[in-house]
Amino acid sequence: MANTPICDTVIQEQCRKLGINNIGKSTIREIVGLVNCIEKETGVKFVRMEMGVPSLKPPKVGTDAEIKALNDGVAAIYPMVDGVPELKKEASRFVKNFIGVDISPECCIPTVGSMQGGYATFLTCSNLDPQKDTALFIDPGFPVQKQQFNVMGHKYESFDVYDYRGEKLREKLESYLSKGNINSIIYSNPNNPSWICFTDDELKIIAEVADKYDAIVIEDLAYFRMDFRDDTYHPGFPPYQASVANYTDNYILMISGSKAFSYAGQRVAVVAISDKVFHRNYPNLQKRFGREQFGATFVMRIIYALSSGVCHSAQYGLAAMLKAANDGTFNFIKDIEEYGKRAEKMKKLFVDAGFSIVYDKDIDKDLADGFYFTITYKDWTGDKLLEELLHYGISAITLDNTGSKKYGLRACVSQITPDKMELLEKRLEIYKQNH
Ligand SMILES: Cc1ncc(COP(=O)(O)O)c(C=O)c1O
Repeated sequence: MANTPICDTVIQEQCRKLGINNIGKSTIREIVGLVNCIEKETGVKFVRMEMGVPSLKPPKVGTDAEIKALNDGVAAIYPMVDGVPELKKEASRFVKNFIGVDISPECCIPTVGSMQGGYATFLTCSNLDPQKDTALFIDPGFPVQKQQFNVMGHKYESFDVYDYRGEKLREKLESYLSKGNINSIIYSNPNNPSWICFTDDELKIIAEVADKYDAIVIEDLAYFRMDFRDDTYHPGFPPYQASVANYTDNYILMISGSKAFSYAGQRVAVVAISDKVFHRNYPNLQKRFGREQFGATFVMRIIYALSSGVCHSAQYGLAAMLKAANDGTFNFIKDIEEYGKRAEKMKKLFVDAGFSIVYDKDIDKDLADGFYFTITYKDWTGDKLLEELLHYGISAITLDNTGSKKYGLRACVSQITPDKMELLEKRLEIYKQNH
């Protein structure tokens, strides 16, 4: 058996120091912390697939706009809670140009990343109606969103969509929504972690079931336009980002600056609320937060309480990037296509080493290559596989953590820059020899 780059004693010792009893149940940030410690202790660099940190440079059009805003003195001024008009206007144009739907600038609210956008949205939706006290996640999903529910103390249910693609999705959704307690349906598209992309037929089903039971669809577009199978950048013309917004008025879109615009460090996103939901009154919101309208509650009661708006300069940065994308002068998709190329190479390396891809189809189409993919080895549990891969200097997160019922791991391609591909290949060769 060939020596592994990391010995078991170091892994066990660092887990003990950090109080990690079950690696498979650790949060993404806990795995990040563990790998940082192992790297520090051993001097061995990991192939880091656990966290979606963009490794591309932030667009100059964004950072220049931020610098200008700071030079103009915005740092001294509190931003308005509902966002700077430039960003609201460009977000509304962006939604029209790249999804093909109309949302007024008033209803486009900047948030401190989609993390805050999600928190505020989940909190508002959980308080619309006392009878509807539960959210429904179409899993697998982004683990920290469940943590947000736990922090808030609100209820959620979830199911793994693996066996319920296509028309089967309707019956599955009906089985939850017909109970009458579901306030919202949450999913990301493309999906973190599996990278499945719902088809238009599936989005239509989600819309129809949501309308039937008066639930709000919360569509998390953190990976906006990152289904690279589609033809790319044509502002104002199809193909658009697939969205439930084409089939219902009961929706909220979360558009993050982090991945599509490599702007994760500035913590800026937009929550685009359909005009209908924004202006709708809910007596229970009046009772709970003192405002009846969804939009007013979201902005003036919740975002105000959480952070009182978003850092001014980050808003100007995102506004400038959206404007350039809208005006046809900034092909943001071309930059991020790099992730698809990495995924294609990495998947091949893993498959050649004996792994298989867990979520591999969008109904009858091969899955796109994108920011994440999912792997499994023989019939191993995610915990066992993650622990084993750590010995080979490779880190990831388990699918257990994402609400998936499948064994395996989520691999994120973002930090595996082309110069690290060879290292991954070498480590997987040792893995193959040893198994
Ligand atoms: C599905 C999903 N939603 C939300 C987020 C958070 O986005 P942000 O960086 O804008 O807070 C992420 C980040 O990885 C994500 O994967």
